[in-house]
Amino acid sequence: MNLDFNQIVPYIPFILEGIVATLKFVSISIIVGFILGTLLAICKITKVPLLKWIADAYTSIFRGTPLILQLMIIYFAVPQLTGLDITAFVSAVLAFGLNSAAYVSEIIRAGIMAVDKGQTEAAEALGVPYKSMMLNIILPQAFKNILPALMNEFITLTKESAIVSTIGYLDLMRRAQIVGADIYRNFEPLLFAGLIYWVMVFILTKIGGLVERRMRQSD
Ligand code: ARG
Repeated sequence: MNLDFNQIVPYIPFILEGIVATLKFVSISIIVGFILGTLLAICKITKVPLLKWIADAYTSIFRGTPLILQLMIIYFAVPQLTGLDITAFVSAVLAFGLNSAAYVSEIIRAGIMAVDKGQTEAAEALGVPYKSMMLNIILPQAFKNILPALMNEFITLTKESAIVSTIGYLDLMRRAQIVGADIYRNFEPLLFAGLIYWVMVFILTKIGGLVERRMRQSD
């Protein structure tokens, strides 16, 4: 066996900076995906056929094509059409945010459907306006049920983030590759990056568990 972890020691700060780079765009993407996903979910359950159709088509397209393809279209192909130069960071946020919205919209839609119909009926009978009913009665209950699925989505995004290395964004993955090429050893930097991804997902899982417990306590 030919392993020498000493060789990556000088590169550790360089690799660690990748955590910040990765978390920066993943966290913004999660927020974009969550907001857009919620709006799409509401469109899906409205009685307006056009809104429903648009939201369904959106999900079909973004869930039906590979994320890496969407990323490359935004980074390489959109500038060709528009003449605009989109940075790797903005492309990553857009691709991950738009893609996640498709998945989040389905998660939230399912969560809303699972809230007992009596809740809507009671709110309507009491004359609660639609917006207030959604924000104060239905969505909070839906949110509690879908928390594990949402957490799963955030974990997926964190791991999938590694594909931004293909557009030259200096994330954790890209940095591990650069170090590998520099020292002619790939196992050590890749293993190190893998460990960091695992720790990030581990922390996310713990946070999810914590929030879940909190919400159950408030019941
Ligand atoms: N590799 C999958 C794809 O390319 C990942 C999709 C992203 N998944 C997600 N839950 N946002 O389609």
